[in-house]
Amino acid sequence: MIPPLAVDGPLLSIRRFGSTPLTADDLLRHRTLTPQMLETLRSAVRARLNIVISGGTGSGKTTLLNVLSGYISNAERIVTMRTPPNCRSSRSTSRAWSAVRPTWRARAPSASASW
Ligand SMILES: Nc1ncnc2c1ncn2[C@@H]1O[C@H](COP(=O)(O)OP(=O)(O)OP(=O)(O)O)[C@@H](O)[C@H]1O
Ligand SMILES: [Mg+2]
Repeated sequence: MIPPLAVDGPLLSIRRFGSTPLTADDLLRHRTLTPQMLETLRSAVRARLNIVISGGTGSGKTTLLNVLSGYISNAERIVTMRTPPNCRSSRSTSRAWSAVRPTWRARAPSASASW
């Protein structure tokens, strides 16, 4: 960020992601969650309830999502849609979709004809 938005001068933020994703045990050890909270969330996933994970930038949404997705039955197909595709799942039943910028190839012929 640069002035005038950055009042005290230019500000550069570098985010580095660890090579090893945090686990449920890590979240418990960091006291992000209590065992009861984790069990409640695990039960909600097992019961196939809809869950919204929201929060500020870098607050741990994807980390929690990755932990909770570990509770999804292996019999279930997982499809992720996000940009960038940083949800991690090594399951054979997991598929990732990512949004991309539209190209002339992706536009419908009728849409490009009106340009
Ligand atoms: N409970 C936690 N304890 C310590 N570090 C954490 C915890 N949760 C996440 N982190 C770390 O914080 C950083 C951001 O986490 P994460 O990518 O999950 O956040 P996010 O909310 O998904 O970010 P974004 O808004 O960019 O999508 C990562 O380096 C992650 O390892
Ligand atoms: Mg995220």
